[in-house]
Amino acid sequence: MSIAKRAFGCYEGQAVEAYTLTNSVGASVTILTCGGILNRILVPDRNGVLGDVVCGFDTMEDYIADAGSYTGALIGRYGNRIGGGGFSINGVFYPIRNNEGGVCHLHGGVVGFNRKIWAAEPQEGEGEDRLVLTLFSPDGEEGYPGNLNVKVTYTFDDASALTIQYEAVSDRDTVLNMTNHAYFNLNGYDGGSVMEQELYLDADRYDAVDELLLPIGDPVPVDGTPFDFRTMHPIAVPFDHSFVLNGEIGCYRKAGEAYDPASGRTLTLYTDMPAVQLYTGVFMDGATKFKGGVPQRRLHAFCLETQYSPNTPNRPTMPSCLLRAGERYHTKTTFAFGVRASAL
Ligand code: GLA
Repeated sequence: MSIAKRAFGCYEGQAVEAYTLTNSVGASVTILTCGGILNRILVPDRNGVLGDVVCGFDTMEDYIADAGSYTGALIGRYGNRIGGGGFSINGVFYPIRNNEGGVCHLHGGVVGFNRKIWAAEPQEGEGEDRLVLTLFSPDGEEGYPGNLNVKVTYTFDDASALTIQYEAVSDRDTVLNMTNHAYFNLNGYDGGSVMEQELYLDADRYDAVDELLLPIGDPVPVDGTPFDFRTMHPIAVPFDHSFVLNGEIGCYRKAGEAYDPASGRTLTLYTDMPAVQLYTGVFMDGATKFKGGVPQRRLHAFCLETQYSPNTPNRPTMPSCLLRAGERYHTKTTFAFGVRASAL
């Protein structure tokens, strides 16, 4: 395996680098030091032809201009929404910055981890390469308590599995919920709608949401609804919802799988997180252009954002995202790429 590095423009006067991790079958993953953005994922289809299955932009300027999609980026401190203007820890209310319509906190606030330059350390290896990214988030940033040291390790292996490990330590009790906001299209980011692509999710329940996209009450059963992905079938309709994953929380397990009948590509999802947000590019309007000028159209990609459920800091019945001072946060998600030999 090998790692190559090249310049990828500037962000707020700081140089941005692109690291490409290439495996022995020629598949590769390109990651930017700004936002830890997954800029390109080249994996073979059923005929061995490499295709780029993740949305992204050609230049740093395009990423900066595209404020609202979080394309490919690491998200923190809190992926998804927090309502009520903040949360309480140990009886103290912490107001946080509401960057969505002035009423909700989304994806870490006004300046989230997606807009930070991360320090990068490439580690070439036998059978797998790693890119270790680190970041310091000071006490009070976006309203969150605690000085936070963050480490995200991207690992890409010879089997074309991309694993993301999130680690952090805070010096005060805080909340933390990191994820990645990759937009996948297994037929290529320029490959049209994903509505025909098939999905399996090991989830018996999902969060119904209000007009602010905040969960209403406790999760509800998927039975008899379009949210039932327990048998693999085409995505078919738009989603922007959180699914509660089955299985032991904190236990790394298979949580889902996607399949594109056109290309034969598969993506298998493993995670130790309790939930996943399925987002199908509902807010993409075709005005913004991805790599090569391809319009960023509605429903042309899907995101599988592994995470704690939305608004968990204000939902005592959900698995807690509280990170105690001095404790180590460690979670892991894998996107394993493969192919099925022929359409079933
Ligand atoms: C998440 C949210 C969506 C949207 C996208 C980014 O997936 O759930 O509502 O904000 O991020 O555009």
